[in-house]
Amino acid sequence: MSKKKIAVLSGDGIGPEVVAEAIKVLRALERHSSVRFEFSEALVGAKAIHATGNPLPDETLNICISSDAILFGAIGSPEFDKDPNAKVRPEQGLLKLRKELGLFANIRPVSTFRAIQHLSPLKTEIINNVDFVVFRELTGGIYFGKKEIKEGGKTATDLCEYTEAEIIRIARLAFESARTRKRKVTLVDKANVLETSRLWRKTVKELSKSYPDVELENMYVDNAAMKIIQNPSSFDVILTENMFGDILTDEASVISGSLGLMPSASIGTGVSLFEPIHGSYPEGAGKGIANPIGAILSAAMMLEYAFGMTEESSLIKKAVNSSLNGGVVTKDLNFQNFYFTSEVGDTVASMIRQEVIELV
Ligand code: IPM
Ligand code: MN
Repeated sequence: MSKKKIAVLSGDGIGPEVVAEAIKVLRALERHSSVRFEFSEALVGAKAIHATGNPLPDETLNICISSDAILFGAIGSPEFDKDPNAKVRPEQGLLKLRKELGLFANIRPVSTFRAIQHLSPLKTEIINNVDFVVFRELTGGIYFGKKEIKEGGKTATDLCEYTEAEIIRIARLAFESARTRKRKVTLVDKANVLETSRLWRKTVKELSKSYPDVELENMYVDNAAMKIIQNPSSFDVILTENMFGDILTDEASVISGSLGLMPSASIGTGVSLFEPIHGSYPEGAGKGIANPIGAILSAAMMLEYAFGMTEESSLIKKAVNSSLNGGVVTKDLNFQNFYFTSEVGDTVASMIRQEVIELV
C-alpha cells in the first residue's frame, strides 16, 4: 500500500469549500485503490495573516516541503484589496510559496465540456475542438523583479527580468508536452517592444532545434489575446512569461463557460502544487454556491503529474463529465436549477465509487 502525503492549503473565501470537495473525491478513490492519502492542513493567505501576521507562516512552508503534493484553494480578501497601503497582503503568501518551492511552471489546460457549451460567451462552432494548454512561467518576470517606490511615492518601478536558464527549463516542458499532443508550441511574447521577449524568442528558437518534430510558432501577446477568442482551436501548447500567462489564462477560462471549472498544476524542482485558477470569490463564501469542479480537476492533475496515477486521474475527469452531463451543476452554470457545492462533490464522488467498482 502506498501512502501519499498531501498538504492542504485551502486559504480564503470559497477556498475551503471547494477543497473539501476535492478531498471528498480523493477519499472516494481511495476506497477502491491501494493508495492512501494523508492530508495535513496549513494556513495561508488572509487567514494566515489574521492568525500569525504572516501570509505564509514557516510552519506552512515546512508542511509543504515535507509533503508529496500540495492542494491549494484560493487566497485574497476584500479588506486587503481595498487598502493599497497594506504592508502585508495575502497574495504574497502564494508568490513566496511559488518562489520557495521553485514552482517555475504553471500548467493550465483549456478545454470545453459538451454539456455546457451553450454557456460559453463564444459561438459553439468556434469552441468546438478547443483543447490547448498554457505553460506559464511562474517564478520570474515582472512579478519577481526589483520593485521600487521613488520620489516620495510619486514614481514606482517593477523590473521585468529573465535569464536564459529560466526560459529553457519551462520551454523544455512545453516542447515535451507538445510531443504528447498536436506537436505545436506557440511562444507568446511582445518581442517588438521588450528586450526580455527577444531573449525568449532567441532562446526558444535555439531549443526548438532539439525538437524538430514540434512546430514552433511566434505570436505577439496582443494578437494572441485576439486569437484566443477568434480561433481558440488553432492552439496546442502556449508558452509564455509570467504576467502574459496570468492574463491570457483568465481570458481563456471563459471559453469553457465558467472560470470555476479550470484546474492548474504548478511544478518545479520539488513538490508540486495544484489549484483551481479561480480566486477566493469572497461574496460567494459560505453560501454553498462555489463550483468545486476546478478544485476537483486540480486533484485529478495532482494524481497525474505528482503521482503518475493516470488511470485514477482520468476516472475523476470521466466522473466530472458525467455529473455535468447529468445537470448536477452549481449556480454559476445553471441559475435556475442548481445544486450546492457539496452536492456536486457528493455526485462526483459517488460516480467514482461506482466506476471503480466496475473497473476492478
Ligand atoms: C493566479 C493569481 C495570482 C497570480 C495572484 C493571486 C497573485 O491571479 O494564480 O493566476 O497573479 O499569479
Ligand atoms: Mn491570475
